[in-house]
Amino acid sequence: MEKLIIEGGVKLEGEVRISGAKNAALPLIAATLLAPGEHVLKNVPDLRDTRTMLKLLENLGVRSQRNGDVLKIDSTDLESGEAPYDLVKTMRASVLVLGPLLARLGRARVSLPGGCAIGARPINYHINGLELLGVTCDLEGGYVDATIDGRMKGNTIYFDLPSVTGTENLLMAAVQAEGTTVIKNAAREPEVGNLVDMLNGMGARIEGRDTDRLTIHGVENLNPANCAIIPDRIETGTYLIAIAATGGEGVVTHCNPSHLPSLLEKLRATGLRIEETESTITVRQPNGSATPGPLKGTDITTSPYPGYPTDLQAQFMALMTLASGISAVHETIFENRFMHVAELQRLGAKIKVDGHTAVVDGCSMNGLSGARVMATDLRASSSLVIAGLAASGRTEISRIYHLERGYEGLVDKLTALGARVWKEQE
Ligand code: EPU
Repeated sequence: MEKLIIEGGVKLEGEVRISGAKNAALPLIAATLLAPGEHVLKNVPDLRDTRTMLKLLENLGVRSQRNGDVLKIDSTDLESGEAPYDLVKTMRASVLVLGPLLARLGRARVSLPGGCAIGARPINYHINGLELLGVTCDLEGGYVDATIDGRMKGNTIYFDLPSVTGTENLLMAAVQAEGTTVIKNAAREPEVGNLVDMLNGMGARIEGRDTDRLTIHGVENLNPANCAIIPDRIETGTYLIAIAATGGEGVVTHCNPSHLPSLLEKLRATGLRIEETESTITVRQPNGSATPGPLKGTDITTSPYPGYPTDLQAQFMALMTLASGISAVHETIFENRFMHVAELQRLGAKIKVDGHTAVVDGCSMNGLSGARVMATDLRASSSLVIAGLAASGRTEISRIYHLERGYEGLVDKLTALGARVWKEQE
């Protein structure tokens, strides 16, 4: 196992290029199961999670070839309909093969993902939705055994909460169902929109992109896809916060600022100066002085898109440990997403957790000092990286495989911004 070493206290400056979105790449790769033939996906990040998804597809008989950020996937020889526990347990998003396997083969056997470091994360909405489309789902031995005789039948599906992968799974199941399916209270995340575009490009008839009501008119056949993955909005936000936390100034390129409305508003509320073009975001310290003043403590509440993303909660909390005054961080999506708090406290952060709220007492710029900490999940780990970059002295983060799940070329990108960061064996 490797650990990440950071010699903190260096201002990050310069430009950083954003990769394709992990959470768009995963459903789009799964969607290639829907139609036989060679699919082309562009701007695909090379991450532990995208590799796991390709391994899962390989297990099913699907071949893929990567050339730079272009992925060619040939799903002609899809044979198996089984996603085994060993793969699903390493990546919950494996459940995204359920819908497309059912649509293509009429059967799927997918391991239940189980809980994870941020919450229980059930898949009841996925299963209830499939049953409404006529699928028989049996839960046995830790697996969901799903079968359908002939084509699925369109129906109306309502989500109690807008589930991202739930919406994606049911979209992929319903595109070839007989008749019309309506998903109400659907997730509006840009990653869902990316999938809608890919499916419509394959010949699907989906209306309501970017709204909470998706209408899917079933079609009989789909063609192979040729589609690009959208920029990673969470990676974008992570670098903006990292640059800001070190007192630096920089430009994030190849991103889509319109996908980060709530983060950009919150960053501006802290006093940071944010400028957007169509594909870049520049972050500058308050009042433009060479010696940055402390940021203003700012509250956030996570909520489904276009609200503040839960996947940027931990990173913003790290920033608020350096701001002046008190900030409240409310987490409403996952019940256990404060694992980073105890680790941030090891760096000197003053944070108290009360239920779903963390209250941060900011200690102004460079008030943190380096320590040994442990990564617990992907986004918690990135908050530790941010805190370590801003802290004085040396921070060692163990279990960095979590970071490799979602941040392409993290060490290289940070080094190019001037950070002193490297990996070592544990
Ligand atoms: N929920 C249920 N039942 C379900 C599905 C969801 O109760 O069947 C609940 C969840 O427990 C949660 C809420 O609904 O309280 C929303 O969860 P959602 O289903 O939207 O989460 P997800 O689809 O499992 C995706 C991302 C997560 C991200 C969340 C929320 C992917 C592959 N994963 O998860 O990303 O945090 O949406 O935006 O798209 C990450 O990248 O680090 C990550 C965890």
